[in-house]
Amino acid sequence: MKPLVIGNWKMNTTLAEATVLASGIKEGLADIPAVEVVLCPPFPFLVPVAEVLHRHPLPNVSLGAQNIFWKEEGAYTGEVAAPMLGGIAKYVIVGHSERRGLFHETDKEVNLKVRLALKHNLIPIICIGELKRPSQTVIDDPSGLSKANIATLLNQLREATSDIKSENVIVAYEPVWAISTTAGATPATGYYAGAVAGLIKHELDAPVLYGGSVDSSNAAEFAKQEDIDGLLVGGASLKVNSFIAICRQII
Ligand code: PGA
Repeated sequence: MKPLVIGNWKMNTTLAEATVLASGIKEGLADIPAVEVVLCPPFPFLVPVAEVLHRHPLPNVSLGAQNIFWKEEGAYTGEVAAPMLGGIAKYVIVGHSERRGLFHETDKEVNLKVRLALKHNLIPIICIGELKRPSQTVIDDPSGLSKANIATLLNQLREATSDIKSENVIVAYEPVWAISTTAGATPATGYYAGAVAGLIKHELDAPVLYGGSVDSSNAAEFAKQEDIDGLLVGGASLKVNSFIAICRQII
């Protein structure tokens, strides 16, 4: 599998900025076919960005949504349902820590979203991550890490994938303490994130991405870990140069 790089734009960009960013990224990726890229703009910009991507399309760039609701249709003012994304997005991020923390999204809701995504042919990118930074000793030497040490994380994963037959899911390990917008954030080390990714893979046979303060200075360190299949990038996905630099670093 090619390394996968997801750009999560979160609630950023205007319409004009979104289309300029998408076309700049597309241009920059023209000579980097070895990386698979998914752009996740805000909902209102999915279609305009899709139009940019469809003009002279690159086979390795596709579109993802940042969220879906856990019901298929109905009186849910302001929400977006999985079937609405048919023909527009290929992927959807579910259970991002900002959704869990700020919008009190539960594991049960994440599971419903994963099921609806799969039902409507969207590939769910399931975000899991612990809130608390482990001790420096564990980060420096995670070789003794066991499933028991990451029980909360594995529980999020089990709940999110409970009763799911298809394994067409992607897991994004995003330690909340490492996400750039968390106060005092520090990225994990490649060694530590790789060890956790390995334990996640024992639990579920799926590609595992790392996310949390990824930039062009640390992308290669994460990507070279055997059990890390790609990156989920927030802040550094909002500028053409920083995003393309990350993609170049990992091939
Ligand atoms: P960050 O965000 O790269 O800005 O830390 C990652 C994420 O929240 O998905």
